[in-house]
Amino acid sequence: MAMHSNQNYSLKSSNSFNIKASCSRIYFPSSLAELQQLPDLSSENFYILGDGSNTLFVESQAPTIIQPKFNGINIVEQDDHFIVTVGAAENWHDLVCFCLDQGIYGLENLALIPGSVGAAPVQNIGAYGVEFADFCQEIQWYEFSSETLHSLTKQACRFAYRDSIFKQERYNKGLITQVTFNFPKAWQANLSYAGLDTLAKKSTAKQVMAQVIALRSSKLPDPKELPNAGSFFKNPIVNDADFAQLQQQYPKIPHYPQKNGEIKLAAGWLIDQAGLKGFRHGDVGVHQQQALVLVNYGSELGAEIISLAKYIQRKVAKKFSVSLIPEVRMITHKGERSFSSLSDLNPIENITVIGDGNSIRGSSDD
Ligand code: EPU
Repeated sequence: MAMHSNQNYSLKSSNSFNIKASCSRIYFPSSLAELQQLPDLSSENFYILGDGSNTLFVESQAPTIIQPKFNGINIVEQDDHFIVTVGAAENWHDLVCFCLDQGIYGLENLALIPGSVGAAPVQNIGAYGVEFADFCQEIQWYEFSSETLHSLTKQACRFAYRDSIFKQERYNKGLITQVTFNFPKAWQANLSYAGLDTLAKKSTAKQVMAQVIALRSSKLPDPKELPNAGSFFKNPIVNDADFAQLQQQYPKIPHYPQKNGEIKLAAGWLIDQAGLKGFRHGDVGVHQQQALVLVNYGSELGAEIISLAKYIQRKVAKKFSVSLIPEVRMITHKGERSFSSLSDLNPIENITVIGDGNSIRGSSDD
């Protein structure tokens, strides 16, 4: 059977920012045979789209899109753990609910994260003290050049904070078709994160999930009601010396020490302290309850979100000398681009950042 595909396809309902964009070609592969029917993409601009909840179409024209449609959930019970294999196109939150209903625990802290299962490993989604990698066993990945499926172990995926091999060496060289999880039967609630620490130690997985849903719903806007893509920026990671300086100036600065000695800061706090929580410019703005979330009140233009994001970046750089890098993926008609390479067509307000780029703390844009 021929693979399902379309021409001149509107992507407005395929991105949670609800930006108006379309692509000249979209493919929906759902089997190995269909993947093998994909055209040669080596010289083409393309983007692999999941549910579109971490994607910003910067221009009205998008490149060729591939949206994998692999479905199905399979559970194998072993003595002390469950192996759960899930198709990339399954919805993440539905999977969390399904597992809990089956008595399989572990994903409860990751409830209500928008998006597909196949997108979860790409940026190693995380929330409330748990991340995707904690339960990942292996990833099935289709390689375009060899036209074959590969199994990648968790170690091979090189998961890090909002990062994996799929954003690095294997970027655009293939796509994820299936994810395999390992859930140990010995389960303990992870209540370390602020907001969950009020729960009783003996809370059930379902009670933890209910609390996570309550927390998220109180701070994060529902994309169906107020279009957004969750956290817009990554939480910046700075070195010890830079952090010491910041802490001296801002004793209350929230911070999370990392295993390697570096310090993760809260981008939402930085934006909030820069006075931008609830800021609105035209039809786009900064969410009232969580400054890390940019919201779309009705704009059709991705460029307006870019101008807002660049404005926030300048304000935060000026006040804290910290560089904010988006977590959201930026898609132009030529494919994905780094945020720093995008021009600001209509700057909100010109702010001069003192010093050169080298004096700005934090990781660089890639
Ligand atoms: N804060 C403020 N003002 C704000 C927002 C936050 O002062 O407007 C402060 C909070 O009071 C807290 C700190 O900043 O002290 C951190 O805030 P929060 O716990 O809400 O989490 P976050 O760092 O803003 C991260 C993830 C979220 C995830 C939450 C909960 C990133 C980029 N974001 O946000 O993930 O849900 O932790 O674990 O790592 C996403 O990636 O799309 C996402 C929503």
